[in-house]
Amino acid sequence: MAASGVPVTATPGAAAGQACATGFTALDFRAALGMFATGVTIVTADSGGERIGATVSSFNSVSLDPPLVLFSVGRNSKSFSAWNSVEHFAVNVLDQSQRDLSSRFGRSQGDKWEGVETLRGEASGAALLPGALAWFECDTHSILDGGDHIIILGRVLTLTLHGGEAAQPLVFFGGGYRNLDARSRVEPLPSEHWWVYAW
Ligand SMILES: Cc1cc2nc3c(=O)[nH]c(=O)nc-3n(C[C@H](O)[C@H](O)[C@H](O)COP(=O)(O)O)c2cc1C
Repeated sequence: MAASGVPVTATPGAAAGQACATGFTALDFRAALGMFATGVTIVTADSGGERIGATVSSFNSVSLDPPLVLFSVGRNSKSFSAWNSVEHFAVNVLDQSQRDLSSRFGRSQGDKWEGVETLRGEASGAALLPGALAWFECDTHSILDGGDHIIILGRVLTLTLHGGEAAQPLVFFGGGYRNLDARSRVEPLPSEHWWVYAW
């Protein structure tokens, strides 16, 4: 479905509009990716004594044993070279009350840190944001090429869980923020699913 609501079947060479090398437009690609709802995080690090931080919706789980997570960083980010050599970082999973913080850390302009209350993570030296639903402190496991992004894989050193059943995470969907109502929970996964996927 394109942003306009018109269904789009994007096969190479078949899409209307301004086609990129793959045959579908960048706009359609974005619109389709936007149908995948995610949480929102702010990833932070101490880079040679300077704080870096970015809003990241590409955070994801990778491995239970060892405990690995990942996120991707755009090569056009101002802090790209710092991210490309980062040794430790922290992931702050945002609560829906942290939407303004998400927007502030989601663009290059201005001083992202001005007036922001932070704690220093013992394991990572990175900034932890009070009010986040969870903190993951990581060391860098590996950094992979990801086209116009790099993919940073982290090994989780410590985690702190603040949110529970009633947590209200900030959600990103269709290029905008959504709130998830805790009462909207439909039904828990049957326990055998947890075994199948090892989660
Ligand atoms: C909701 C949201 C999610 C984002 N997710 C990502 C992401 O996963 N990867 C990424 O590189 N940039 C993402 N961005 C954009 C970065 O946060 C932004 O480019 C970065 O903070 C710029 O950093 P700079 O000051 O180093 O240039 C996202 C922005 C928003 C608002």
